[in-house]
Amino acid sequence: MSGGNVQVRMKRHPQGMVSPGDFDIVEAALPTLAEGEALVRSRYLSLDPYMRPRMDPLRSYVEPLKLGELMPGAGVGEVVESREPALPRGAIVAGPLGWQTHGVVTRANARVLDPAMGPPSAALGVLGMTGVTAHYGLLKLADPKPGETVVVTAASGAVGSVAGQIAKIKGCRVIGIAGGADKCRYVVDELGFDACVDHRAPDFEQQLAQATPDYVDVLFENVGGPVFDAVLQRIADHARIALCGNISQYNTKEPYGVKGMRQLLMHRVAIHAFVIADHRDYWPTALADLSVWVREGRIRFKEDISVGLRSAPDAFIRMLTGRNFGKQLVQVE
Ligand SMILES: NC(=O)c1ccc[n+]([C@@H]2O[C@H](COP(=O)([O-])OP(=O)(O)OC[C@H]3O[C@@H](n4cnc5c(N)ncnc54)[C@H](OP(=O)(O)O)[C@@H]3O)[C@@H](O)[C@H]2O)c1
Repeated sequence: MSGGNVQVRMKRHPQGMVSPGDFDIVEAALPTLAEGEALVRSRYLSLDPYMRPRMDPLRSYVEPLKLGELMPGAGVGEVVESREPALPRGAIVAGPLGWQTHGVVTRANARVLDPAMGPPSAALGVLGMTGVTAHYGLLKLADPKPGETVVVTAASGAVGSVAGQIAKIKGCRVIGIAGGADKCRYVVDELGFDACVDHRAPDFEQQLAQATPDYVDVLFENVGGPVFDAVLQRIADHARIALCGNISQYNTKEPYGVKGMRQLLMHRVAIHAFVIADHRDYWPTALADLSVWVREGRIRFKEDISVGLRSAPDAFIRMLTGRNFGKQLVQVE
């Protein structure tokens, strides 16, 4: 094999919003494979909001990143060398490749993709972690009933777009919250939500009240902060919240103080916080549904693809500031 590896590593802990100077881009030697490993040339890298909290030196559900460590992340690519029969040369696989041109995977942490399921990049989105997250949070935890009102925040994004479309499939009235008119138009016209409210509009709270005349039975929460508080003002008795993400707080040094404790108590709201990494067993259940719904055109998805591994830091910042439109990916080469 010729050529080396290029990696993006964390150079320093971000102070507030991530900046390009928080990363180092370095050339490294290709790894030598041990028995049971395969070397993968990365085609697509997934950029996900969870990577931002991992850059902070704080207690979490996984060890925080250390200075100089490779940025973590799922990727899709081609096996170019293998010492694992289940991952043969030429196979297209998804696994934890990290922000680099070449990564090593094993049978335990990679899956060989079936081309009949959809394009390989979808294995990082609707037919991968973000799709499974939407399915789990909505159906396993919040369990919406037909006719109930479901609100989804970050509704045009990778997780939110799928959560809302599943809620429509289940017969719910679905309201999205997204940033800007273009995203809201997409959420209603392309994804089929019943309405979408722009959280940047000056009359956001009034628009949300108009869109939720029967209050909110289920909130699929991706954002936190003032958007979360606005939905709590509209929460129904015995509502369920799938607490999936808190992206508005990932880059702030002064966390927002939630004001809606009264609403949570008065309306006897159940909050189900979850991290999909705890639920590997659930993937087959979710993918069985999602692959059918995608094939039937009942779930649509959009990708925002940035070109070149070296563009990853900028693309990551774009996503964290809401300038992505769809599942954020990097086309590595
Ligand atoms: N619990 C889990 O296991 C799990 C797994 C995957 C993802 N997540 C969480 O799910 C959420 C969505 O992730 P994703 O991958 O689907 O990303 P995404 O929605 O495709 O992209 C992030 C979006 O967040 C919104 N956003 C960013 N800053 C915001 C702010 N200050 N206020 C309001 N909205 C803001 C932006 O949308 P707008 O322009 O519409 O505001 C942005 O496009 C994240 O919070 C993530 O951490 C959790």
